[in-house]
Amino acid sequence: MLGEPVDSFPRLAPEVERGAVRRITVVGEEILRRRCREVTEFGTPELSTLIDDMFTTNAAANGAGLAANQIGVDLRVFMWDMPDDWGVRHVGHIINPVLDEVPTEQRELVEESEGCLSVPGPYRMVSRLDRTVVRGQTKDGNPLVIEGRGYFARCLQHETDHLNGHLYLDRLAQRERKSALREMEEAKEATFARRAARAKELGVSPGPR
Ligand code: NI
Repeated sequence: MLGEPVDSFPRLAPEVERGAVRRITVVGEEILRRRCREVTEFGTPELSTLIDDMFTTNAAANGAGLAANQIGVDLRVFMWDMPDDWGVRHVGHIINPVLDEVPTEQRELVEESEGCLSVPGPYRMVSRLDRTVVRGQTKDGNPLVIEGRGYFARCLQHETDHLNGHLYLDRLAQRERKSALREMEEAKEATFARRAARAKELGVSPGPR
């Protein structure tokens, strides 16, 4: 299941039913702005619970992926559950992820619309590498290599950015960043209400905001 394309997989990842919805941190909070700590202890119940909660929180917010500092936990962990550009669903998590460096002459950038659960509401065009490889570990400490293309590659880069204290807003021109933040202020209450409704639909507790 980890990082492999899946075709016979439940609509809701099993983690979703085990986890709880946690409050999603919002741009402006300090934890989103610092580099998260390496995970050094693997195979612990705490790590499993963290990942389950991230899956549940992401599902209730209708997200594609989520980093641990987005639920207030300062650890290098992110998860994803999303279809790629070819309609293949990818579901997994990775610990201590590191993106492969791509030599400048091989860098192929693509611009696509991108949003973030910690910037509720707006989407903006962001330039990203079309292809990426991320290396890390599973929650049990086994080595894991994930390759993504297109929108899935974008997600892997976006989530790794989070763990380094960066948001997609940082990649925008100042004017765009300001307009995105204004749009967020106008949209966030409606977005929170939609998340609460979706959590109810999923039969999970909506959790605090
Ligand atoms: Ni994000």
